Amino acid sequence: MIFGRVKPLDAILATAEKKSLHRTLGAFQLTLFGIGCVIGTGIFVLTAAGAQKAGPGLMLAFAIAGAICIVAALCYAEIAAMVPVAGSAYTYTYASMGEFLAWTVGWALVLEYLVAASAVSVGWSGYFTGTFLNQTLGVTLPPWMTAGPLALGGAPGGLVNLPAAAIALLVTWLLMIGTSESARVNAVLVAIKVTALTAFILLTLPNEHFSAERFNPFLPAGIFGGLGTGVGAVGAAATIFFAYVGFDAVSTAAEETKNPQRNVPIGLIGSLLFCTIFYILVAAGAIGTVGGQPIMGPNGIPFPTGSEELARQCALPQYADALVCSNEALAHVLRQIGWSGVGNALGYAAGFALPSVILILLFGQTRIFFVMARDGLLPARLATVHPKWKTPHIVTGITGVVTALGAAFFPVGQLADWANAGTLYAFMMVAFCVMILRRTAPNVQRSFKTPALWLIGPLTIAGTIFLFLNLPWQAILVFVVWAAIGILVYLVYGRHVSHLGRGIVEVHEPEIHDLAPDVPGVSDPR
Ligand code: ALA
Repeated sequence: MIFGRVKPLDAILATAEKKSLHRTLGAFQLTLFGIGCVIGTGIFVLTAAGAQKAGPGLMLAFAIAGAICIVAALCYAEIAAMVPVAGSAYTYTYASMGEFLAWTVGWALVLEYLVAASAVSVGWSGYFTGTFLNQTLGVTLPPWMTAGPLALGGAPGGLVNLPAAAIALLVTWLLMIGTSESARVNAVLVAIKVTALTAFILLTLPNEHFSAERFNPFLPAGIFGGLGTGVGAVGAAATIFFAYVGFDAVSTAAEETKNPQRNVPIGLIGSLLFCTIFYILVAAGAIGTVGGQPIMGPNGIPFPTGSEELARQCALPQYADALVCSNEALAHVLRQIGWSGVGNALGYAAGFALPSVILILLFGQTRIFFVMARDGLLPARLATVHPKWKTPHIVTGITGVVTALGAAFFPVGQLADWANAGTLYAFMMVAFCVMILRRTAPNVQRSFKTPALWLIGPLTIAGTIFLFLNLPWQAILVFVVWAAIGILVYLVYGRHVSHLGRGIVEVHEPEIHDLAPDVPGVSDPR
């Protein structure tokens, strides 16, 4: 029976017990960590794509996506504190719904982590080429080396995004040799990002260029742009959801948290609330000062982001300064309103801080692959640990090369939408897991219980499905094809070689925790 292989929760919990990590984190550090994972390409770059989909309704989009993430976070908090082991949603699903569905979650998490890392790399490239090369050094790289090809949604004249591929490979190399980000470095990067966004808000909201007129029409593409179109406030919410991706990493730090019942939800919800408010204010500042109306197609619907048509429009002189065409949205806004110096400083902040988001995402991906290989669902060779670096160097290298290829050829908006599709599936499954485990394992200790789970669980499921259906149809198709390939791989390969299938249920030594701190940015290297 394909759904029958459920990994015993006891075996998973025994693995967790062996780890005995120190509980050192408080609510503040956890919140800081959440903000470190979350603020990145979503706000610094995708603000432009969000405005192209929703116009000023982008502010509403941030609120919708934030609200769905908060209910999902409450579900994560319970299961993360209860099953504090590596593998996140994949492991939870293994324990509650069995191997097959766990495999589909692990497969979808590739979109959440690997593809998201590609997206952040492309976002970084926009700031690197715009602020560092162009504004600071006066160097303009030829378009063929700064964007993917038009056929895939890149810019006219684009062929390969070399800076994006280069940053992905550089971060991969750092991970391979065992670099991890300490809590102190994370705190510094969070301070840089928050300072940049605060400066943006302080300079744009009370500004002579600010005009309430620019918010009119507030919803040029409506609330619902139509299923599969990816436009309207809800379509923008489905894309801008990317700006919140990564908060689940906070849940993975539950086992290192003092008083997790109190601190994990504060960390999760605190960081999400903080980001939601900041994002809405940033969107208000950007739109109120330079405007953010979408470029409409002939049928009165905004041109799709990442489309050839939009790229061609953006190449026209009349749209040279349009927010929706900018690769470095926030720096662009500040330059437009006469704060070029601060705009460049913000560009540096993004260029400096975004690689840490790539690092956290790639780290998460390699650890999930590692756990899947350890369960026998992927070749054991992938889990080989380098004798000197003490890292899973093979899987890290492969992950990094694929990330770099994605970053080299695809535009940021498309990559973000694909990442969102996978993430939304994983979040939905986590809500199911929490509800199932309440029934199947009622006596296992939960240091945090999701309040009103009968409401929060279904709300999470409904919210994630809702956003998923409001992604552009191409992203939905990518997810379906990716899932079909995954199911095929499982039926042809994983099902036959999995340890559980072969009757092996092992309790693992804490080898993965000997590799490196569980979560970069939380633990100081041990
Ligand atoms: N939320 C992260 C970002 O926006 C992934 O870059």
